[in-house]
Order: sequence, then structure tokens, then C-alpha cells
Amino acid sequence: MERRPLGTTGLVVPRLGLGTRGLGMESGIGSRRAPPGPEAAAALVRGAAAAGVTLFETSPAYGDSESRLGRALSGVPQPVLLVTRASPGPGLPASLAASSRRLGREPDLLLLDCGPETGPREVRAALQVLADRGWRRPVGVSPAAGHDPARLQPLLEEPGVAVVAVTYHLLDRRAEEVLTAADQGGVGALILGPLARGWLTPRARDLLPTHPQEAGQVDPYLELVGHDYQALEALALAFAGRHASVAALVVGTRNLAHLEEAVSALERPVDPEWLEWALAWG
Ligand SMILES: NC(=O)c1ccc[n+]([C@@H]2O[C@H](COP(=O)([O-])OP(=O)(O)OC[C@H]3O[C@@H](n4cnc5c(N)ncnc54)[C@H](OP(=O)(O)O)[C@@H]3O)[C@@H](O)[C@H]2O)c1
Repeated sequence: MERRPLGTTGLVVPRLGLGTRGLGMESGIGSRRAPPGPEAAAALVRGAAAAGVTLFETSPAYGDSESRLGRALSGVPQPVLLVTRASPGPGLPASLAASSRRLGREPDLLLLDCGPETGPREVRAALQVLADRGWRRPVGVSPAAGHDPARLQPLLEEPGVAVVAVTYHLLDRRAEEVLTAADQGGVGALILGPLARGWLTPRARDLLPTHPQEAGQVDPYLELVGHDYQALEALALAFAGRHASVAALVVGTRNLAHLEEAVSALERPVDPEWLEWALAWG
């Protein structure tokens, strides 16, 4: 697995990471699926690390994800990188301490969950609180669930903000300008959900006939790649990873075979004309 430096953080991350929201909550398109049991979770995490996917993203907001991930990691021999979240504000130190307890150790990167009330002043205060508590590891910013990533742009100028983590894929390009700002400012970027929650994977095959709105969005790309879903996934990963700042693409599968398909899709060459067309189409 290719590894890339994450901006100036000093962390070198695998090109693919595993987002573990699905370890703690029902998720996915179509019929929502319950989180896997402890043994299946451990097998997924072990298999991911064995495939070189040694970056794990979690959050206290993902149900039991942190504690399930923490338990699953006890059987993993490879060194791994852990990313979790906390909201800026008075609860920040307690939230980080609780996450570290559930994970079994401190995370390697902390993302500040930024909602509409989070501006540069709140981020500066959060960085100060963390520094006062002896936190020396990198800190990043990420939109709170449902929040527009474009609002993060002024936060990237805060000294101490080393990473931005955003959702960005062929069907949702709202983070385009933030990623361009990250490219220019030397901020490392993580992409959360490059496969559009599954709409850019073989899962869409059975769902598109009954979802006309999503079909309208996905069909042009499917036609472009000759209705080859593996090629669609490869195009989706190439698109989401094209900004220079993007070090890793964090996919959210709970199925090891699907993660291995993503690893293959990442290695599959993508026709530069497809990428050019996809850029122009959006
Ligand atoms: N905090 C936030 O605001 C936020 C927002 C977005 C994402 N995230 C994080 O980023 C992670 C990734 O985002 P995401 O889960 O929305 O999206 P994603 O990685 O774009 O897509 C994941 C979905 O695609 C399906 N899938 C993947 N490969 C497949 C294949 N080969 N065949 C069939 N289905 C396939 C998965 O189902 P299976 O499980 O069946 O494989 C899963 O439901 C999340 O888990 C979460 O940790 C965080």
C-alpha cells in the first residue's frame, strides 16, 4: 500500500484508511445494516491492517465505534494510526480523555468537529486548551455532520491546524475550494466517504432502478466507464484523491472483501480522459 505524508504533521499514512462509523452504528444505503459483532469487527480490523490499511478513523459520535475499534486493535500486530474527533469547547479535554480510554491509547490525530458556531476564535481556544494539557500531536478540522465543508476555509489559516478532513466525491464537490486552499497552504487532507456512501460501488446496481434521483447523478459516470462497477470505483477513488493535499481516502466498509476491492480499485489505472470528463461534468 502506497503511503503519503499527511501535510506537515510528520505522519505518513496509507493511501486508504478505514472509517469505522459502521462498527458502531447502522449505516449504508438501501437497507441499513446493523454493526458487526465483536468477532466480525476484529476480523475486519485485522484484515484491513494486514492489507496495509493501517489508518482508522472513528468518533465518539459513531455509537460504540471507538470501544469496538479499541478492542479489535488488541489483536493487530502492525503499528496503526488512529484518528478521532472532539468538539471545541469546555468538554474538549474530557472528550479526548474518554476517547483515549475507549481506544486503549491516545489517538495520533484529533479532528475538531466544526459546526456553524465554530470560527477561528473557537479553534484557537481549543488549540490552546490542548496545548495547556500537554497535547503535542497534530490537530485538524472537519465539518460536524451535515455541515457545509466550505465554511472550514478560514480555519485552515489558523496556525496549529495541520489537517482538514472532508467528504468529497464525484457526486458532492462542495469541498473543492477548501481542498484547493489545503493544497496551497500545505495542510494535509483526508477524504471521508470517497465512494458516496456506496453509490459509486457495485451496491448501487440493485438500488439505482428504484432511486431515480441518484440514478440521474450516477448514470453519466456509469455510461462513461461502460457499466463496469469496478472501473466506477477506481474512477471515484482517483477523483477524490486528485488534490495534492489528499494523503488518504477513508472508506467506510464493514466488509473485508469490499475493502480489498477498494485496494484493487486504487491500484487500477484510470483513463486520464475519464478523469478529465468527470472533472468537466461536475
Ligand atoms: N463524521 C462525519 O461527518 C463523516 C462524514 C462522512 C464520513 N465519515 C467517515 O468516513 C467513513 C466513510 O464514509 P461513508 O461510509 O459514508 O462512505 P463510503 O466509504 O463512500 O462508502 C461506504 C459504503 O459503501 C459500501 N461499499 C463499499 N465498497 C463496496 C463494494 N465493493 N460493494 C458494495 N458496497 C460497497 C459500504 O457497504 P459495506 O459495508 O457493505 O461494504 C458502505 O455502506 C465513514 O464510515 C465515517 O467513519 C465521517
